[in-house]
Amino acid sequence: MKSILAPSILAADFANLEREITMLNESEADWIHVDVMDGVFVPNISMGLPVLEAVKRHAKKPLDVHLMIVNPEKFVEAFRRAGADILSVHLEACPHLHRNIQQIKSLGAKAGVAINPHTPVIDLENVIQNIDLVCMMSVNPGFGAQKFIENTYQKIRDLKELILAKKSSALIEIDGGVNEANARLLLEGGADVLVAGNLIFSSSDPKELIQRLKRL
Ligand code: DX5
Ligand code: ZN
Repeated sequence: MKSILAPSILAADFANLEREITMLNESEADWIHVDVMDGVFVPNISMGLPVLEAVKRHAKKPLDVHLMIVNPEKFVEAFRRAGADILSVHLEACPHLHRNIQQIKSLGAKAGVAINPHTPVIDLENVIQNIDLVCMMSVNPGFGAQKFIENTYQKIRDLKELILAKKSSALIEIDGGVNEANARLLLEGGADVLVAGNLIFSSSDPKELIQRLKRL
């Protein structure tokens, strides 16, 4: 099934990041997913601009940057300059979401909107035509290796319906708790992009696992 696979380096070995990025370059992964957490929007702090710059120096694949931060308008320009190809902001962190999307597009990046598990898909109704990607959280953001929330399947159906109704070309990205048991079901249900952190980086042979996921 034609799909995009975006390994999340949140689960990578940060002391050997160059080695991890080289592995992804050599693999069949499509994008590299970078999780930025500020300790305010989510109860955890991960990585920021210097790490993205370092990743960019080695990465041969698009960088899909997931901003789990408040006031993203203050930082998107810097993240774009540091190498982000796709920038997703959280709907719940953006009272002026339409403006945030315009700003990202004006920087020449692809614009994504991430939604938390409790956020209804219909909240995207007035922006779905303006965006390239919906990052649908299938765990509560903040940590890797959490359990997949089953209600996500229904939300994918709702989102697919909204995308068709509005003639949007937005891709549906599923982020959190993706594993070998649910990956195929998610793609069959309408997902276009799968993010996977723990699954890939805890594997003894990540490249082979990536190949398996690409062949689902
Ligand atoms: C969670 C992050 C995810 C996370 C996914 O806040 O947005 O991208 O890295 O990790 P796994 O695949 O381990 O659930
Ligand atoms: Zn993410």
